Amino acid sequence: MDSTVTSTIDLIRRRVSLRNYAPRPITPEHLDLILESAMRAPTAGNMMLYSIIVVEDPAKKQALSVTCDHQPFIAKAPLVLVFLADMQRWYDYYQLSGVKEFRREQGEDFTSPDEGSFLLACCDALIAAQNAVIAAESLGIGSCYIGDIMENIETHRELLQLPDWTFPVAMACFGYYPGERPQPRPRFDRRFIVFTDAYRRLSEGEFAEMFAGSEAKFNPGNRFGARNIGQETYARKTGAEFAREMARSVRKALEAWNGKKL
Ligand SMILES: Cc1cc2nc3c(=O)[nH]c(=O)nc-3n(C[C@H](O)[C@H](O)[C@H](O)COP(=O)(O)O)c2cc1C
Repeated sequence: MDSTVTSTIDLIRRRVSLRNYAPRPITPEHLDLILESAMRAPTAGNMMLYSIIVVEDPAKKQALSVTCDHQPFIAKAPLVLVFLADMQRWYDYYQLSGVKEFRREQGEDFTSPDEGSFLLACCDALIAAQNAVIAAESLGIGSCYIGDIMENIETHRELLQLPDWTFPVAMACFGYYPGERPQPRPRFDRRFIVFTDAYRRLSEGEFAEMFAGSEAKFNPGNRFGARNIGQETYARKTGAEFAREMARSVRKALEAWNGKKL
């Protein structure tokens, strides 16, 4: 097999989310390669519907470590990148290009970004982010996504001066591996995740098999009083306070992505 392919797959197999970093800055050459790789990612219509904010200001990192559900390692990360879904840049250009007048001449509407563009721009931003993650990994730099950047939209808009038609869909912290790599974390078996030709809902027996490993390690003394993995995961993730804040924040952000006649 082609050795380039093999080493790329090896890299993907080895990657883990890294939350403590060697206390040295990312070299400018490495930062340059990470950003270049992000920008080589596929992008819908080659429109590059995203922007990347390199957060350098330690005070902003500190603030993000609080607003992103109190995760202190964010403040210590040598590199923090925020990936924005971004339709603002194109709309600014559309306005400059007289698109509104052009559309009116043709008897057509000119509308603000809608839910479709929101998701498309999110796709662009996330794909760019993952290119950055893999490029970093190849340079010995570990990373960790922070989904909580989608919370507290009002605070994040102010902190990063985000206009309405941008949305911070992901943040990632980066830093060199401090020594030994953590072991790759387990995944569900492929048969529960990958289907042929059509979606298939899982049976009770399949769920039992899917969670057999984690149920065996389940802690009955967990802080939620949950009696199984389903109850514990709901309490810790899907139904948790941070998830409610995320829903509120995304709903608020989406108010501006309404496809309204301009
Ligand atoms: C969209 C997304 C959001 C995440 N948010 C956080 C986060 O806020 N804090 C954190 O420590 N890890 C976060 N992670 C990392 C996941 O917890 C991690 O990917 C998962 O536990 C699997 O571990 P692995 O990446 O080492 O395989 C996030 C990952 C993704 C993809």
